[in-house]
Amino acid sequence: MSAASDLVVEHLEVRYGDLVGVADVSVRVPAGKIVALLGSNGAGKTTTLNAIAGLVPVASGRIVWDGEQIAGLPAFAIVRKGIALSPEGWHLFTQQTVEQNLMLGTTPLTDKKRIPDLLERVFTYFPRLKERRRQRSGTLSGGERQMLAVGRAMMSEPRILLLDEPSLGLAPAIVESMYDTLQQLHAAGLTLLIAEQSVQLALDVADYAYVLQTGNTVLEGAADQLADDPQVRKIYLGLSDSAVAP
Ligand SMILES: Nc1ncnc2c1ncn2[C@@H]1O[C@H](COP(=O)(O)OP(=O)(O)OP(=O)(O)O)[C@@H](O)[C@H]1O
Ligand SMILES: [Mg+2]
Repeated sequence: MSAASDLVVEHLEVRYGDLVGVADVSVRVPAGKIVALLGSNGAGKTTTLNAIAGLVPVASGRIVWDGEQIAGLPAFAIVRKGIALSPEGWHLFTQQTVEQNLMLGTTPLTDKKRIPDLLERVFTYFPRLKERRRQRSGTLSGGERQMLAVGRAMMSEPRILLLDEPSLGLAPAIVESMYDTLQQLHAAGLTLLIAEQSVQLALDVADYAYVLQTGNTVLEGAADQLADDPQVRKIYLGLSDSAVAP
């Protein structure tokens, strides 16, 4: 059964010409939860998130949001429905300032009067962006770019945030602070779908997780159960017992 505001991906297939991006991925993100999408390089995490966001065409399968099938809708229509993506590689406009990049996130907003509040909210979560609001985004550090990508996604006032590797390339302290912020956003009511290669990190914050392998969902379960099962840790998550957090 799919409740309102759940995101349900069923048997998603995405092709890049003759190549298969994802073959058969099914994921459910219940409203108010944090769900992790795990898998190694090329497993299909980015392709899945991009398909949900309408950035790559869906070859077959269903993507249902709020009880409505959204597969095939253009990206601008999907973001208007309350789904925002913080993409892999950030996709910032490097010649534009931090604030100009944030404003680009407001394009789908119908009520432009919300902009000052939304901007203030982003600056509350990411004070670094406020300090650097007039700085060109091309001169930001990796951690600041990640904050800006998440902040820009928040500017469309989404109900669900799709995060593609929010820890990628960041120093451990920055990663920790990014994940703290993501948990605060969740506590404030946002549903999160997080693609991560840092399995431990994702399982620490997620309620539920899916493991992708070569374009297929091969495993799913409650995050704490996946994290504790030695067999699962070894075979699917590539974690040795020595990697167990204290
Ligand atoms: N634009 C593209 N053209 C052709 N093949 C692509 C394209 N983008 C992705 N693929 C292929 O689709 C498959 C899934 O890639 P995807 O980027 O979704 O994986 P990922 O799980 O996000 O990996 P990573 O952890 O490295 O980011 C891979 O085999 C990849 O080579
Ligand atoms: Mg990826």
